[in-house]
Amino acid sequence: MYTIYTYFDIIILFIGVVIMIIQVCIGSACHLKGAYNVINSFHQLISEKGLGDKVTLKAAFCLGHCTGAVSVQVDDGPVLSVCDRTVGQFFDEHVAGRF
Ligand code: FES
Repeated sequence: MYTIYTYFDIIILFIGVVIMIIQVCIGSACHLKGAYNVINSFHQLISEKGLGDKVTLKAAFCLGHCTGAVSVQVDDGPVLSVCDRTVGQFFDEHVAGRF
């Protein structure tokens, strides 16, 4: 598993604007199980909660937990399974609850 950060990402992390990164797997298994919908839900939730300046949403290629698709990782935490029905609860527990 590799994460590629751009120069811009590193600058943002260095100055402390973005303090959380959510990675959503868009690999084959996760794509088939609804990664696109999960990403859209995260986008909407981040916007609704006004966390756009603190949370960055990134796509990742295979987080190594294909049987648990859709796989999501917050910062360097564990890779967890999320679906359309659980994305709101996941966001409250693992993202909004940390601010
Ligand atoms: S394809 Fe998503 S974890 Fe492997």
